[in-house]
Amino acid sequence: MEVNQFKVIPVTNHRYRLKYHFSAPSGWMNDPNGLVYFKGFYHVFYQYYPYDSSWGPMHWGHARSEDLLHWENLPVALVPGDIEDEDGCFSGSAIVKDNKLFLIYTGHHYYDKNDQDNFWQNQNIAISEDGIHFKKYEKNPVISNPPSDNTQHFRDPKVWEHDGIYYLIVGSQNSEKLGRILLYKSKDLLNWQYNGVVTVAKNIKNDGFMWECPDLFRLNGRDILLFSPQGIERQKNRFLNLYQTGYFIGKFNYLNSQLKHGSFEELDKGHDFYATQTFIAPDGRRILFGWMDMWEASMPEKRDGWAGALTLPRELILHDSKIYMLPVSETKSLRRKKVLDQSLSVSDTKLDLSNTKHLEINLQANFEEWLGSYFEVYLKTTDDKEMSLTFNTKTCLLTLFRSGPDPYRYGKTLQNKKIKIRIFIDTSSVEFFINDGEVVFSERFYYEGKMNINLCANEQITVNSQIYDLK
Ligand code: FRU
Repeated sequence: MEVNQFKVIPVTNHRYRLKYHFSAPSGWMNDPNGLVYFKGFYHVFYQYYPYDSSWGPMHWGHARSEDLLHWENLPVALVPGDIEDEDGCFSGSAIVKDNKLFLIYTGHHYYDKNDQDNFWQNQNIAISEDGIHFKKYEKNPVISNPPSDNTQHFRDPKVWEHDGIYYLIVGSQNSEKLGRILLYKSKDLLNWQYNGVVTVAKNIKNDGFMWECPDLFRLNGRDILLFSPQGIERQKNRFLNLYQTGYFIGKFNYLNSQLKHGSFEELDKGHDFYATQTFIAPDGRRILFGWMDMWEASMPEKRDGWAGALTLPRELILHDSKIYMLPVSETKSLRRKKVLDQSLSVSDTKLDLSNTKHLEINLQANFEEWLGSYFEVYLKTTDDKEMSLTFNTKTCLLTLFRSGPDPYRYGKTLQNKKIKIRIFIDTSSVEFFINDGEVVFSERFYYEGKMNINLCANEQITVNSQIYDLK
């Protein structure tokens, strides 16, 4: 099956189109899928509906890049509608074997198309020699059913190889309605054997009813389970999004398929971060993309014929039992011009910038011997949209404010003597990386007109500032 090019929705207004973040050429996108390096290119696949700017029967959109930042759109890799994936090709992953690229994805099926709450899901393979054209495996599905103690929720396979054996984990829900991760094993990527439960939620309120988009990998000698649980209850400063994305740190035992782990930590504290996936770059870096949006967010770009974007690619680093996320070093190549390089003496200081649409801002301040208690970066647009990041040096609390519904998000750093803030501003997004990725906020930010940027503090302070205009 192919995409009907005559029916593809066009982009009708470019006001919110991002310049250096990935988004679909038009139409709807959500999760990044199948992240892989293959034959000289980084590949990104993504959950895609080409005919509308709202979610619909899922396709796999596809693009490739040599630098993780400039993307060439390729033909849609997977189109739903075959017997194994009648109502959607849901999320999944990729792996290279025998010089071929294998995709493994979830087939989605409704018993009755008018009742979208009742469905079944299976796991399928598609194969490519050139990394552009994919053929679904003729014996799909490769995993037809979840184990008998599972509900219908059974999706998002993530595959990897370990000591010559292939493993995959899949997100699921057990018959007590608790989120969990299942493990399968294979010698050839085609015949899979169920190997048990990696870990399961203890209760819905704290752990969630369904765990989507699992990813299991080693980072600095520890095993990390990264996933997107649904159903965790809001707490005062945590779990404030509709759904979460975060991780356990632990030790995975290949003999009994179980992960022993600590508590769940959110990976990004912003409003717009979900359904992440990671992969290994040829130089060994563990790189992550997330969907820089949230289910049920308003996404005003829908009116313009598109919706959804990916975060900047981020390198993951484990440090003091915490995952840090840093924009990949390739982002330095986006710098077109240094527009400011100064030690500013700040109390309420407007940055003198002629263009604020596409910027990288680097700020450093030292709070030793400082009498104040807060430092803030404040963005305000001529159409009255506001965003701020406030650091309280007494409590180490970082508060993100975005005007609109449910405005506050919170993070905490371990350092109060100094701060390093790196901000990436694109047409309709802002990402804050604090203290080399210790705390990150990912935000969509929609405005028209101009934006002013102010640095504020309740006592005069020196802020070392380097700002770049980005290509
Ligand atoms: C996560 C998710 C996945 C599913 C896909 C469907 O955002 O719900 O679990 O495979 O999106 O588009």
